[in-house]
This record gives sequence, structure tokens and C-alpha cells, in this order.
Amino acid sequence: MKNFNLAIDGPAGAGKSTIAKRIAKQLGFIYVDTGAMYRAMALYFLRNQIDASESDRIEEACKDVNVTIEYKDSEQLVILNGENVNAFIRTEEVGNMASAFSVNKAVRIKLVELQQELARRESVVMDGRDIGTIVLPKADLKIYLTASVKERSKRRWSELMEKGVIADIDAIEKDITERDHRDMTREFAPLKQAVDAVYLDSSDMTIDQVIEKIISLIQSK
Ligand code: DC
Repeated sequence: MKNFNLAIDGPAGAGKSTIAKRIAKQLGFIYVDTGAMYRAMALYFLRNQIDASESDRIEEACKDVNVTIEYKDSEQLVILNGENVNAFIRTEEVGNMASAFSVNKAVRIKLVELQQELARRESVVMDGRDIGTIVLPKADLKIYLTASVKERSKRRWSELMEKGVIADIDAIEKDITERDHRDMTREFAPLKQAVDAVYLDSSDMTIDQVIEKIISLIQSK
């Protein structure tokens, strides 16, 4: 059977990774978290004191960075130059830096190639910002998953509180608004709904309802 490619795009905090991970598990597909790849690149630049404004240094450094993906017990491991960096890439700081560095064309070209290669080999659920538009324009199903800024901020805040991290919801809302703006207005591969994507607003939906809806869309294919 031909590989099935499911593309899920949307802004930060829309629930993409939780939903993509569960759908992948249910269907036996590989889950590819492309945001984690941008986060790993950002970590490399941070560690090497390269700023998001230094496009020449970024381009040069791209030649030395190797980001790969491995799977262990069906969990995605992001390998940065041979090191598993999963434990370092989930902070708000790295997320914001990933957004800032991802405007760079050299960074995007490098990661898009790797993502396309993964989708050629396996049936994937891939989430990100440009999956339906650039990475997998011929995906079998494309979802644009979003929720209101208020709802996304509330979810992020609850997630942090559950981890015992005291967070300020207004600061989270400000970060999310800034990140949305940068991701949606950048020159290369901005976040936008692909013309053939199904729009899903999860503000008033549970995770289970979103998953059920997407599975029914896959079955109708
Ligand atoms: O999904 P995330 O929050 O882990 O992504 C972090 C940042 O990486 C996001 O704000 C923008 C960038 N990104 C991107 O430009 N393209 C993707 N396909 C995935 C993420």
C-alpha cells in the first residue's frame, strides 16, 4: 500500500503535537514533530552564540549542523550532531528562538529536505507550520488546526502548572501573539492554511473530539 501522509499545520499551542502523536499511534504511522527540528537548530545557534539577525553566520553554521530523527519505543528523538537533545528543546526560550531562526531560508531548506525524505519512506503524521503548503504539498489529508489566542494561552499555562512551573498567563499570551505574527508574516514558508486543507478550530473541542474528526476524515479518503 502507498504511504499515507497526513499534514497538520497551525499556530503554537493549538494542540497539534498531542493530537498528531495520538493519531500516529492509533494508525501505526510515524509521528514527525518538525517544530522539534527547528528547536534543535535553535539550540545549536544558542550554544554557539549566533544571533537570529546574523544571517551570514547562520548560513555558514548550517553546513556544520546535522539534525536527524530517531525513534525509540515509538518516541521521536532529535539528534543534534550525534547528541540526543530532547531534554533541552522544550523550553519557552528555545521555542521562541526556533521561531526567530526559522525565518532563515538556509535553515528551512536544510530541514525541509529531511522531512520530505522521512515522508517518502513511511506513512507519517507530520505537524508544523508549512507541511501542507511546502513540505508535503501532495499530502493525502491536510488539517489546519487552530484555536483562539486566549484558549491557546490557557492551555500552555495549564501545561506548565501541571509541570510545577509557575507561569504568568499574560506573558504567555504576549509570547504566543508575537510568535503567531512572526510565523505568519515571514518571507519564506509562512504559516498559512493550504487551499485544500480542512480548517478545524479546537477552541470548544476536546482532544478526543478533534482526533475523532480527523480519523473520520482519513477514513473517508
Ligand atoms: O511547533 P513548535 O512550537 O515546536 O515550533 C517552534 C517554532 O519552529 C515555530 O514557532 C516556528 C518554527 N517552525 C517552522 O517554522 N516550521 C515548522 N514546520 C515547524 C516549526
